[in-house]
Amino acid sequence: MATAEFTKDLCTPALIVDLDIVNRNAQAMLDRFQKFGVQLRPHMKTHKTLDCADIMTGGSRRCIVVSTLAEASLYADNGYDDILYAYPLPFDKVERCAELSERLSLFHVLLDNRLALRELKKRPLKQGKVWRVWMKLDCDNGRVGVPHYDPASLQLAQEISETAGVELTGIYAHCGNTYGCKGEEQIKAVAQNTTTFTLQFMEKLKAAGMHSPKSSIGSTPSCSHPVPDMAMLSEVHPGNYVFYDVQQSLIGSCRLEDVAVRVLTRVIGHYPHRNQLLVDCGWTALSHDGGGRLPTGYCIIEGHPDLKLLSMTQEHGRVESISGKLDFSQFPLGSLLSLMPYHACATAMMHPVYFVHSKGKIIGTWKPTRGW
Ligand SMILES: Cc1ncc(COP(=O)(O)O)c(C=O)c1O
Repeated sequence: MATAEFTKDLCTPALIVDLDIVNRNAQAMLDRFQKFGVQLRPHMKTHKTLDCADIMTGGSRRCIVVSTLAEASLYADNGYDDILYAYPLPFDKVERCAELSERLSLFHVLLDNRLALRELKKRPLKQGKVWRVWMKLDCDNGRVGVPHYDPASLQLAQEISETAGVELTGIYAHCGNTYGCKGEEQIKAVAQNTTTFTLQFMEKLKAAGMHSPKSSIGSTPSCSHPVPDMAMLSEVHPGNYVFYDVQQSLIGSCRLEDVAVRVLTRVIGHYPHRNQLLVDCGWTALSHDGGGRLPTGYCIIEGHPDLKLLSMTQEHGRVESISGKLDFSQFPLGSLLSLMPYHACATAMMHPVYFVHSKGKIIGTWKPTRGW
């Protein structure tokens, strides 16, 4: 398949975003959880732009998750509110969190240990405000959080809710372990476990006499194939789904037709002696995420199932044929290839601007925030 005509004047490498697919992915998630009666709190980490946040929130500009304070500030500065900074509270950033909490009507932080709680106590909020705290529960994901079966989880929740100037606003479990799944059945099994452990924990809080905080779980795989019990949660927090990617299609979250982003690259060298092409996409344009484990290497080269992105250095990519000799006449110097990324979050991070297209035309650009 030839790359689309509208891309031919873009300087490469360039990240292009199909707005119609973004709208479709975002609307499907909004509709899915509206039917469940569960609040969707979309994560912004994949794109980090205002434009895409407006689409994911259905224009409400409320109720989002961020992974950096750079994102939080971007959204706070542009009329967003009810922002959850879902990252284990970094002590060097308590002051910035305090300022955001004082400025917004709802800014939430997340923690999984008593030392972090102590840091919050040291910095009481002004204007009679309280710290809105989500406790991270580890429901077998194995990254952040107090293990759901550990009595320390209940003790920490109790301590948070008894601390003056602090409110236990919610329990947050991220089922990143869905990334090890293959197919809907396995995804649903992990989603069910995470939901069950979280709901059991909510019961324990109730039995211990604590008021009912919110509960939130999520990842793109689990929220693409939710289980009925997720209707008993207060919120879900997926993010990647707005773009999806090759990894999500392999997990079983989406179809390849649902992937909204591509990296455009140009052929910049022919090397018949080693049967390779060179392209102007190195890891600074695609990222090394995925480790080249696909049969087609680091990405899918759209329309060319026989090509493999074999390796990348900073600004160069080596492309070879999976079987047989390359027909170099098919790939003249200067011609374009369209790469479907393995992991859209990592790839988008590499670009200072995204080119947005709809119905065969570039219609604008989105500018992400960067840094922490
Ligand atoms: C804490 C947290 N919440 C939510 C998400 C969103 O999950 P996904 O990227 O699968 O949509 C992530 C993603 O890494 C995360 O780290």
